[in-house]
Amino acid sequence: MDNDSSFRIVAALRAWIAGSVPGARLPTSRALVAKYGASPVTVQKALRTLVAQGLIETRPGAGTFVRAVRTARPLDYSWQTAAMRSPHSRLSALSPALRAAPQGAIALHAGYPDRELLPERLIRSALARAARSDAALIRSSVAGLPELQSWFAHELGAATPVGVTPPLPSDVIVLPGSQSGLATIFRALVTAGRPLLMESPTYWGAIQAAAQAGVEVIPIPSGPDGPDPDALARAFQETGSRVFYAQPTYANPTGAQWSDAATTQILDVVRAHGAFLVEDDWAHDFGIDTDPRPVAARDDAGHVVYVRSLTKSVSPSVRIAAVIARGPARERILADRGAESMYVSGVLQAAALDVVTQPGWQTHLRNLRPQLRARRDLLLTSLREHAPDAHIATVPAGGLNLWARLPDATNLDRLVADCEAAGVMIAAGTSWFPAEPTGPFIRLNYSGPNPGAFADGARIIGQAVTSNH
Ligand SMILES: Cc1ncc(COP(=O)(O)O)c(C=O)c1O
Repeated sequence: MDNDSSFRIVAALRAWIAGSVPGARLPTSRALVAKYGASPVTVQKALRTLVAQGLIETRPGAGTFVRAVRTARPLDYSWQTAAMRSPHSRLSALSPALRAAPQGAIALHAGYPDRELLPERLIRSALARAARSDAALIRSSVAGLPELQSWFAHELGAATPVGVTPPLPSDVIVLPGSQSGLATIFRALVTAGRPLLMESPTYWGAIQAAAQAGVEVIPIPSGPDGPDPDALARAFQETGSRVFYAQPTYANPTGAQWSDAATTQILDVVRAHGAFLVEDDWAHDFGIDTDPRPVAARDDAGHVVYVRSLTKSVSPSVRIAAVIARGPARERILADRGAESMYVSGVLQAAALDVVTQPGWQTHLRNLRPQLRARRDLLLTSLREHAPDAHIATVPAGGLNLWARLPDATNLDRLVADCEAAGVMIAAGTSWFPAEPTGPFIRLNYSGPNPGAFADGARIIGQAVTSNH
């Protein structure tokens, strides 16, 4: 009899809960006793049942409430894909380089330098100063803070040889990181459905930005000295493309830096085809054995659209970059930026400018060089000793990465999983190819945390290579 009453109360309260909002308060026990004509014991039993079902919770001294999560039924979103149809391009949400590393893992997969390589003191005081300045309260123009535009223009101008007109501050458009600038440039200069030439392999984010912009990517093989100028010329001719995206300085992933002679030939090809070279100078501050030589410094006819990022060298959190473009191309890019994000946070722009104009910035960059060299060489010697089958064709003269080719029959997915199970995170090279990968490659970043573990990491990679081919 008691059980029947309890079931009756549970059923009635379930119906009441179904029609109420999370957090709604149930009537008191006394009110329930009166309402259902049941004993207090029966009412308590019914309430315990509902707590056990996760429908209500009691808060001592406050009462009994409807819980926020009331059902465990699987949710069905299949209507959404019917509404959206198949995507035009398949963007992957997470590149291997952006995966979070578990505690204690040896992280060689990521693209960003460890915080011990950042100018932490300069960043913290710059942010504090920016917070106190007018920049904290103003809206920047679409093109950016004039002082920061001047700094970017001046930096490239300082590398400009005699006889070439240096860029003006008004040629500079400040970006919230260069990634969104790449999508802008591809949308504005290539336009959806048209062909874009890209080095292969190349930065996975540029491949994603091209897919996002809906442009057709044409891979141009690129070796230790950059792309073959004749192959580039043929591709311009055959495809009708008028834009070539490349990283002439410490390319991600190969580390290649174009020689002066190669730069001259490639610029000639670009000019002869009335085309643009989009130069992604992401690693400008990471020279080790050489200095960066921006191709854009050699061009004043608007053929080179120059993208310069401070994200990795200043701080991933003070995410500032710039594009320098001349002529109508600059207007198209500016219009896209206005539509895309209107303007970049003045606080971040002021903080970035503060960091790069402190005398301590140059000292920081001078000290960074030997640190990167030591890390690069340590990872290289560790791999040569413990993973001799990982072949590194180019010792990068700068940048943050080693690019290693593995034996042909290597099962890359299994290799990455085996390394991860043994505590080493590495990035399969697959994402760096605009089309099919031309071999089994891995990218290893030597600027991550804990270089003391590089030898252990190399040993684990070596064992995984041996057992996966
Ligand atoms: C070659 C290259 N270009 C651009 C970017 C994007 O940099 P940002 O953080 O400025 O958007 C990266 C970041 O990994 C990169 O490697």
